[in-house]
Amino acid sequence: MLSEDPRQSWRRFPALQQPTYPDEQALRTVVADLEQRPPLVFAGEVDKLKSQIAEAGRGEAFVLMGGDCAETFAESTADHVRLKIQTILQMAIVLTYAGGIPVVKIGRMAGQYAKPRSSDVEVRDGITLPSYRGDSVNSHEFTESARVPDPTRLLGAYTRSGTTFNLIRAFTQGGYADLREVHAWNRGFTSNPAYKKFEQLAAQIDHALRFMKACGVDFDALQYVDFYSAHEALLLEYEAALTRVDSRTNDLYNTSAHMVWIGERTRDPNGAHVELLSKVKNPIGIKIGANARPDDIFALLDKLNPNGEEGRISLITRMGAANIRERLPHLVEAVKADGRPITWLTDPMHGNTITSGGYKTRRFDTILDEVRGFFEVHREAGTVPGGIHVELTGDDVTEVIGGSEPICEADLGSRYETLVDPRLNHQQSLEMAFQVASLLNG
Ligand code: PEP
Ligand code: CO
Repeated sequence: MLSEDPRQSWRRFPALQQPTYPDEQALRTVVADLEQRPPLVFAGEVDKLKSQIAEAGRGEAFVLMGGDCAETFAESTADHVRLKIQTILQMAIVLTYAGGIPVVKIGRMAGQYAKPRSSDVEVRDGITLPSYRGDSVNSHEFTESARVPDPTRLLGAYTRSGTTFNLIRAFTQGGYADLREVHAWNRGFTSNPAYKKFEQLAAQIDHALRFMKACGVDFDALQYVDFYSAHEALLLEYEAALTRVDSRTNDLYNTSAHMVWIGERTRDPNGAHVELLSKVKNPIGIKIGANARPDDIFALLDKLNPNGEEGRISLITRMGAANIRERLPHLVEAVKADGRPITWLTDPMHGNTITSGGYKTRRFDTILDEVRGFFEVHREAGTVPGGIHVELTGDDVTEVIGGSEPICEADLGSRYETLVDPRLNHQQSLEMAFQVASLLNG
């Protein structure tokens, strides 16, 4: 009997949240094409990220993951991508300088084009159509032709991921992210408290750099920043087509992103998503909601990290501010007793979504409260709060209520642009970084 290709074993397991394509042959043609396309990331980069995530698990670094809930093809432009990279880099500077810890920078970018949905269909004014599942599946427009899943969109997702990666590499390896440029990044209105604080911090960094220059320090290393990408590994045909054998080691890597995560809805240990990711070497994130039990986590670890490799698994808790102090402690204690290393991250967004004036939104204060709860629980247990996972954009949108220059409920309509979940805007992201930096010091 021929042995099974490990990239295909997931087909024998139940696969949730997959689009139903009307034309199977068209899908097979696209997948065959994708299988021939170059990898988007390389095994050496993936291994390097894994070792940095391991450091975060030990408290020697801090992970900052951020980006859109759903990237869109329309916003994969140079300006949108640059502002997002810049926002994450600014947050990282705040965390590194004010929090005093190296920051592992990961964009929810260059591949975050597919969304799990609570319903397969959306009903508006008596009309029922397939739900929007992200630009790699269908279009957001509420018409029959836009909503039918189209496999050629997978090629669009690959291409846009590639061009986004190209910008990420250019900005972070080409001198743009040089620490000596931090002052220049502070755009916007410096009367805003978050910008003002950043301006002060940039002045301090300038001062320190001038001192070091006077001492004859070599600054070449400042020109380069490691910036990684991650997305939810949701569409199995796409993820499998980009799973490749590393010629150095014969190991399999998912080459669509450095890190991929499994969502709260698709993390069944006996499901297809976990099966596919059990075959690859990448660092894996797993979303953990308020109802997770220790046994759920152990079953996932048995399958995804039986030998307890450090940096392999990040548990991304998204429990809601109202639940985290009650629900997280017993999981943390159980995982501590198990002994296999985990990097704990907080996603303070997905357990705190509310509706206001017809808009899906979140409150900045509630988001921050979940982050605080996360730090409190880990400090109490003697475990490590290893990082934060947030939905943000570099644009001045009005999707999340609150912040240091507050957005109120009546403002939501003025620039509400997300197609799925509400994101921190640029100043709210900076404010979040200052708040987290003070928790890191605390
Ligand atoms: C997300 O990160 O956008 C998401 C859908 O999260 P979760 O799986 O935790 O609900
Ligand atoms: Co989301």
